[in-house]
Amino acid sequence: MCANKDNAIDKNKKYVCPDKIRIFNQIGIDLVIGKREGPYIYDFDGKKLIDVHINGGTYNLGHRHPEILDAMREALEMPIDIGNHHFPSPLRGEVAEMLVNLSPGNMKYCVFASGGSEAVDIAIKSARHATKRRKIVSIDNGYHGRTGLSGAVGNTKNAAFFLSDTPEDSLKVPFNDLSAMKIALTQEDIAAVILETIPATLGFPLPENGYLAEVKSICEQTGTLFISDEVQTGLSRSGNIWAIEKFGVAPDIIVTAKGLSGGMYPIAAAILNEKAGSWLLEDGFAHVSTFGGSEIGCYIAKKVLEIVSRPETLDHVNRISKYLADSLQTLQEKHSHLVEVRQCGLIAGLKFEGEIGAVMMSKALYDNGVWAMFSGYDLSVLQFKPYLFTDKALVDELMEKLEKSIIQCAS
Ligand SMILES: Cc1ncc(COP(=O)(O)O)c(C=O)c1O
Repeated sequence: MCANKDNAIDKNKKYVCPDKIRIFNQIGIDLVIGKREGPYIYDFDGKKLIDVHINGGTYNLGHRHPEILDAMREALEMPIDIGNHHFPSPLRGEVAEMLVNLSPGNMKYCVFASGGSEAVDIAIKSARHATKRRKIVSIDNGYHGRTGLSGAVGNTKNAAFFLSDTPEDSLKVPFNDLSAMKIALTQEDIAAVILETIPATLGFPLPENGYLAEVKSICEQTGTLFISDEVQTGLSRSGNIWAIEKFGVAPDIIVTAKGLSGGMYPIAAAILNEKAGSWLLEDGFAHVSTFGGSEIGCYIAKKVLEIVSRPETLDHVNRISKYLADSLQTLQEKHSHLVEVRQCGLIAGLKFEGEIGAVMMSKALYDNGVWAMFSGYDLSVLQFKPYLFTDKALVDELMEKLEKSIIQCAS
């Protein structure tokens, strides 16, 4: 670790990402995360924050969950390492089997990656190979990662910044606009639609009744594959293992990442049905990834899947989500500055008055001991994502801090 906070900021400003540090500085946030435990992170200067950003779901189980730490220690004591992706591995096989069995529809295979963007790339390549079509439909201002293919199906401005936009291959439609989706999906050469069940970076707008099921039904008619990006919404955050299950849709491909790591060792995966995984029978070397499905990562992922699929975990998420919903409703009734609450399980977007209402709330909450981040593509919506084991006392504390911050921002 760097000797002190200023030193860490200077080194990162100099060698890592000067512009990001400048932006956070402008907002008045100079967080350098030191100690972390459960729902809490601590700034290097000792300031304690409740983490409801949880790095997009990476800390779904909280920071340094004891069972994950034990699994990590066990893995390090075993005679294993990253492994070699060319050969069968007992751990990789076991995690793939768990992911397939925990998924809706007739999933058959699991292709491992080291992060979410890479797993989205795998999903897109798999759909293109399976359909022999090239174009991908996604939503305006979606976010699916920042590698070439994943970036191109997200926000156009970001892809164009690196000259990696592919307008000829990517069709963008507004979220929840079924007519626009129908028009896009009935064009020629559409391999897949990729959708987050509840698009995080857009501020967690909830899918309208029947929207996702209707998109899937059009896909079935047109021979287009449905890729469900569950990187943020999966692994029991919604009260189901995958949020897409809540909407009665069995996708052709599910992408999972972030939380699968237990916040301790990077691992991600694309889960494929028979059609999407056809290339695995034809050319096993068509996609390979040295770190994808590392054995240490698999050992952790196995424990993560075991924890998130326990009936008591899902029961708890459903119970505490209801308590959170009631608490947020009470708050909204008292404060018109909180314009809208969008919630599904422990996934929530809080819309505030003003175009940059959520940026102001991020800063106020930061000062009041909560780390919650504004949505990148809608600065009026705050992402509010408590970890799975949030209890009533933590919800109460969060509401108190939210209310204090709302009063400060509204005035
Ligand atoms: C919905 C979604 N998909 C994909 C990704 C990409 O994941 P990664 O950052 O691990 O590449 C992210 C990351 O934030 C995401 O939120």
